[in-house]
Amino acid sequence: MSVTRYHPVLAALHWLIALMIFGNLGFGFFVIRNIPNSDPGKLSPLAGHMGVGTAVIVLMVIRLIVRLVTAHPAPTAHQQQGLGTLRTPMHWALYVVIFITAVAGWLTGYQIAHLYETPGNTLPADFPQMTTRVIHVWMTLLLSLLIIAHIAAAIREKVTGDKTIMGRMGFGKRSA
Ligand code: HEM
Ligand code: HEM
Repeated sequence: MSVTRYHPVLAALHWLIALMIFGNLGFGFFVIRNIPNSDPGKLSPLAGHMGVGTAVIVLMVIRLIVRLVTAHPAPTAHQQQGLGTLRTPMHWALYVVIFITAVAGWLTGYQIAHLYETPGNTLPADFPQMTTRVIHVWMTLLLSLLIIAHIAAAIREKVTGDKTIMGRMGFGKRSA
């Protein structure tokens, strides 16, 4: 079936997950990063960050399933030439990098979960070198670059290509 928009569940999940990821990136880089690991008060905001991140994993799995079983709009003329041909690999790269980011974060959280059993605990001295944490942080940087490229591509398409590009991730009649 040829469609002009993504499935409404996929569109809703796209914007909800985008909001949660922006929140976690902003909160991670500008709040959590600035609290010293020796501060017992760091564990509480970190728990909020981990809760949102864990919800991202669950929603991404649902989104992937919905994506695999629903029809998508065909590439625009622009997306079939030059830089535009990066559309499909870029979208899959976003899925893969979001999963690696969130799973590395989750594995880090798993290793420090016991600290929440007693109030007043602080993060361990080797926390900055913990392999899963290092992977998590590098992946958040890669994810930020991919998101910037993704938004730039959407704006470029809107300005110089198919003006209906944003509507593809919106709601309404889907049949062509
Ligand atoms: C954390 C932020 C974001 C992530 C992780 C993300 C991820 C994705 C992914 C994976 C797709 C492919 C469709 C799918 O499989 O669901 C997609 C499509 C799309 N996104 Fe985003 N997105 C984000 C933010 C944004 C923003 C801020 C905009 C608007 C400027 C936007 C505009 C679009 C559009 C227009 C499409 C459809 C593209 C097409 O059909 O070629 N996205 N996004
Ligand atoms: C896609 C979802 C996620 C995003 C975008 C994200 C983003 C971030 C960012 C930007 C930072 C700060 C990095 C820095 O120190 O420069 C961070 C740190 C961290 N995140 Fe996440 N995160 C996500 C999911 C998770 C999950 C699921 C968990 C655990 C359940 C988690 C646990 C942590 C931990 C333990 C830190 C280290 C805090 C520190 O070193 O001070 N994250 N995250």
